[in-house]
Amino acid sequence: MFTIITGAQFGDEGKGKIVDLMSEDYDVVVRFQGGDNAGHTVKVGTDVYKLHLIPSGFLLDSRVLIGPGTVLNPEVLAQEMDMLAQGGIVLTPEKLGVDAKTSIIMPYHVELDGLRESKRTEKIGTTKRGIGFAYIDKVARDEVRMADLVDPERLRLRLLELAPSKEAAIKELEGDPSIVTRKDLMDKYLELGRRLAPYVTDVSYEVNKAIEDGKNVLAEGAQGTHLDVIHGTQKFVTSSSTVAGSACANLGVGPTKVDEVLGIVKAYITRVGEGPLPTELTDETGRQIQQVGKEFGTTTGRERRCGWFDLPLLRKAIYLNGYTSLALTKLDVLSGLDEVRVCVSYELDSLIVDYPPEGTAELSRCRPVYENLPGWESDLTGVKSFGDLPEAAQNYVLYLERKMGVPITYISVGPGREQTFRK
Ligand code: GDP
Ligand code: IMO
Ligand code: MG
Repeated sequence: MFTIITGAQFGDEGKGKIVDLMSEDYDVVVRFQGGDNAGHTVKVGTDVYKLHLIPSGFLLDSRVLIGPGTVLNPEVLAQEMDMLAQGGIVLTPEKLGVDAKTSIIMPYHVELDGLRESKRTEKIGTTKRGIGFAYIDKVARDEVRMADLVDPERLRLRLLELAPSKEAAIKELEGDPSIVTRKDLMDKYLELGRRLAPYVTDVSYEVNKAIEDGKNVLAEGAQGTHLDVIHGTQKFVTSSSTVAGSACANLGVGPTKVDEVLGIVKAYITRVGEGPLPTELTDETGRQIQQVGKEFGTTTGRERRCGWFDLPLLRKAIYLNGYTSLALTKLDVLSGLDEVRVCVSYELDSLIVDYPPEGTAELSRCRPVYENLPGWESDLTGVKSFGDLPEAAQNYVLYLERKMGVPITYISVGPGREQTFRK
């Protein structure tokens, strides 16, 4: 069984939580794109894990893999491994593997990301983790790969070859080029390479073999559909392909192997960073959702902008991913509102459209058209089944399901693993 999970909105839908929960039934959990711009939270009992790179299936028995389509900051990976080890979770090479072809995020990528963002008149609001610049180098074939990192001689030669162009790029943005060749940095990367060498593997082979052997593989997406570098709200997007098909291309698994595509969707919408968000709420309701939902970025701590559920964007996400089912998260956050609103279409230059326009500028001009549903008062965080939800909350879920035309199979009413039930 091969299942792909992606975020159906702008990221932070609760992918980490659902992956942790589902990993019980999966032998392998694999990240296929993005890097430590992701922040995935797993909460079990009183333990909360906020991870950027290690797949969210690390707690149970699954093997966790980082695929070649990701961009990996080895320092962040080492920190995460140390943090888990302090809590008694030691990730051995039997548990964790990183593909030899994975692109390495170097300090100059992080530097360039920060410098570039500071020079932009219209900012993207990146996480400043060097993601875009690492992907530029991957496509330009100027990257340092995991296989180079773990081989001191290859790493030295590769950096020698790349240094002049990296120094020039940093100089052009008025930064300090010495970051490229500083000896302490080189020593640090050599040390990281030594440490991570036992983890190097062929992820594509492992995933295909697991599927062939009848095992279950779960591909964990990062970011969200509308941050996709091709189909998202350019230029306010990340630098990787975040939609489900990307799992096949990035892992080297044929599309004929996919059994399920699960979309994770919040009961409202959030966005961190710049870019259009047609249903954005800048009023007291928006603040209430933000506070109750603790909508602050896992990676940067920034406030997440909040808005009502946006059906046109979901329709597009359903097309782009081919979802076979959906998990609806954070339903509990909407408790206490007199009414909940759902954007069913947009008004765009005096036309009504029920699908997002392809251009970002046009999407920015869209005004939401709402249908209002009755809200509910009671706290949902202890609810254990669909039938125990207040009638208005049930109706909200059924309404969304009907409008989206894709079954909602999981409902989440709190951050904890146990605060989830099947519909
Ligand atoms: P991800 O990037 O998609 O993995 O999502 P994040 O972990 O960045 O953000 C989701 C946040 O909401 C995390 O703090 C989760 O612990 C939390 N969360 C997940 N599901 C629920 C839910 O159903 N209700 C509430 N209140 N919080 C949730
Ligand atoms: P998870 O996996 C939400 C956003 C950034 C910025 C844009 C580009 O936790 O859902 P980047 O650093 O990738 O070049 O920034 O993308 N962004 C995310 N927003 N969740 C994420 O990941 C994100 N990863 C990147 O805020 O707007
Ligand atoms: Mg997140």
